[in-house]
Amino acid sequence: MYWSKTQSLAPFNLATSGVGSFPLRELPIDLKDIEINGENSYGYPPLQKAIAAHHGVNPDCVVESAGTSMANHLAMAVILEPGDEVLIEHPAYGPILDIAYYLEANVKRFLRAEQNGWEIDPAEVRSCVTPKTRLIVITNLHNPTSALTSDSVLREIGDIARSVGALVLVDEVYLDAAYENTPRTSFHLGPEFIVTSSLTKVYGVSGLRCGWILARPDLARKMHRLNDLYGATPVHPGELLSVVAFNHLDLLRERARGIVEADRKLLSDFLQKQSAISAVETEWGTTSFPRLVNESADAFLGRLRSEFDTSAVPGRFFEMPDHFRIGMGVNTEMFAEGLNRISQALVRGD
Ligand SMILES: Cc1ncc(COP(=O)(O)O)c(C=O)c1O
Repeated sequence: MYWSKTQSLAPFNLATSGVGSFPLRELPIDLKDIEINGENSYGYPPLQKAIAAHHGVNPDCVVESAGTSMANHLAMAVILEPGDEVLIEHPAYGPILDIAYYLEANVKRFLRAEQNGWEIDPAEVRSCVTPKTRLIVITNLHNPTSALTSDSVLREIGDIARSVGALVLVDEVYLDAAYENTPRTSFHLGPEFIVTSSLTKVYGVSGLRCGWILARPDLARKMHRLNDLYGATPVHPGELLSVVAFNHLDLLRERARGIVEADRKLLSDFLQKQSAISAVETEWGTTSFPRLVNESADAFLGRLRSEFDTSAVPGRFFEMPDHFRIGMGVNTEMFAEGLNRISQALVRGD
């Protein structure tokens, strides 16, 4: 997170993970409808309802939060006591690991293998759980690879969790970037599932910080109470704008989708031509996680940055230093030139 806030910016920035900003002027709102304060002690009811309707769940199961970041923190903090075992995918989005360490949980890992298309192998998860496992954490779509986990695999993970009295946290912040392949939220798969998400990555309105948790009502109440320590009450103008965003979600998604899909086509053509890079391609998602075949990604990304004004996220942040993450969905012209510069930097390294 620190690297991304301080080091990732470059004229050709492929170090993004979400789509470009949706402009406020294109959101059909009348600013006269925006108020500073409102009734939102434990969530603003129209926003709670909009989130609940989006997922087909009861509003009692919805906890508003400041982005998926706070959603993950609240969810894990309510479930985990110091010393509890938590099983987290590898590679993982760094802050999820950091929350677990911050909570002094006992962190165990299960591997997603590149040769298996980064898919989750339930047998691997089963071999890693113990009677002490309290929580299994995954991202779907997976950050950094955009791998989509099927409902049947998720159900198996739910069964494994239930067999040891654990819960499953699924961070679905990228899930709607599967577009027409988007499944229903895994929250519907069983009482052991807790889901976190936001409007950040797929809809281009990160600044609203509209995040949420879906959890059983008893857990949801605990999360609301814990959030009293951190946020007390949400920013009400943000809630009002978020309700408008929910009313026009298709507009927001489709605007970004055009860019994501144009970028994906360029990336796919690029990968076909590159023997020095290998990647598992997906038909969805806003990120790809290629591997450099012949040299260290850190050395390559340093050269790419200093000589070619182009950035991508080093794989070391996902504990996979041979890889780097490329983000799609911001600006296709910039993306095309960024790929072009990656080609030039690869030639320079020969
Ligand atoms: C898997 C995952 N979860 C959560 C977040 C944070 O999302 P938000 O901006 O909604 O806090 C990110 C951001 O990159 C992410 O990749």
